[in-house]
Amino acid sequence: MSVTTSEPISDFQPFGMDFRNDPYPFYPKLLAHSPLEVEVGGEKAIVISRYRHVRHILSRHKQFSSVKPSGVPGMEKVDFFNSRPVMNYTDPPEHTELRKIVNPAFTPRNLAKLQLRSQAIAEELFDELGDHPEFDAVAEFGMRFSKRLLMNTFMGVPEEDEYIFMDWLNAIPLLDQAEPGGGKPKEFVDAWTAGTDYCDAALDRAQRDDSENIVRLIADASDSGRISKDDVMATMLVLFAGGLTTVSASTGAVLLKLVEYPEVAERIRMDPELAAHHFEETLRLNPALTSVMRFPKTDIEFEGLAIERDTPLYVMLSAACHDPDTFPDPYRFDIDRPNYRDHMGFGAGQHTCIGNVVARAVIPPLIAEAARRYPGLRRSAPEEALKFDIANPRVRHLASVRLTA
Ligand code: HEM
Repeated sequence: MSVTTSEPISDFQPFGMDFRNDPYPFYPKLLAHSPLEVEVGGEKAIVISRYRHVRHILSRHKQFSSVKPSGVPGMEKVDFFNSRPVMNYTDPPEHTELRKIVNPAFTPRNLAKLQLRSQAIAEELFDELGDHPEFDAVAEFGMRFSKRLLMNTFMGVPEEDEYIFMDWLNAIPLLDQAEPGGGKPKEFVDAWTAGTDYCDAALDRAQRDDSENIVRLIADASDSGRISKDDVMATMLVLFAGGLTTVSASTGAVLLKLVEYPEVAERIRMDPELAAHHFEETLRLNPALTSVMRFPKTDIEFEGLAIERDTPLYVMLSAACHDPDTFPDPYRFDIDRPNYRDHMGFGAGQHTCIGNVVARAVIPPLIAEAARRYPGLRRSAPEEALKFDIANPRVRHLASVRLTA
């Protein structure tokens, strides 16, 4: 579907399949009409798209809550954590406490260790691919990289137990079929229960040994009474869910951009520092999270629009990343933008991605290594349309692209 700026789009559906399938044609219209009043599930909602509007909302957590009010239509589709309080969906002071528990995992010392391990993992994976590989940059390479780094190293979940978390992740799209007031799909409930059992056992083990990983941190917090055992699972999952597919999809996306812009790949070979610019600009053009939600705590007026308390605000990170007022010529891949780190790919404000420091530490070295190893990297089947994972209504990930070196 193509949309021009002159067409009315008051029937715009932020979780609708038209937008999820191909969001790009919608951006000019959304940007021209921000804030936009729409109806979702028969209830009023507001779509926020312009960069400065998005930043305004995200940096004012005292006025705009991340806690989903109960009974709002559509929320059952995004209740991934079984209504447990997790960082993404809490406000201070609860949010601050939850973030504090895992903050020690993101110290410069830990990040330096993680960066070293990630370089070793990337080299192992490239070596496993051989001299003239043909591989799926997301489903094979990106996902393996992300699992070894985040799941096995950062979270301390051994390979043989990965399925516990993958079952939960794979059951999430089923929530998309959930109806207001209806129960959750059985597969989701079973996966949640299996994960809770696993986390309880992992927590017991971590309290006995001296391993340094997320479970250990949670164990320490649990000892001091800052987190209940019930919430261990949710804490593990929020990190796992936040990192696994965002890192694997972004890894695939940066490799694809090396293919699409060979002149940029050449510049990175000459100056590996530019890999960081390549990563940020890829995220701007392909932000993994297309939207986040906020809810006004009181009745407000925003840009001349009266908005009642608790009205769902769909804050469109992806549209903001294409705002020409902030990113001139916004559809152009340009690693020389002076404000290349200002995109909304990691969100903004209180809830800015806690893992951004991990992604920023591990992905640029991988880009530089891929550019160095594979100067002739190309798509195996350039005529094939790119495949995106849009099963989760707020996410648009590159799902698969075959590359040949
Ligand atoms: C390229 C990779 C990544 C992208 C694009 C990404 C994107 C995002 C975005 C847009 C948010 C803001 C959500 C909001 O405002 O509601 C977020 C939050 C979060 N991310 Fe990431 N993320 C990435 C990597 C990671 C990693 C590696 C981890 C874990 C190690 C992680 C864990 C989280 C958590 C826990 C939050 C919630 C933070 C809070 O609410 O305070 N993310 N992420």
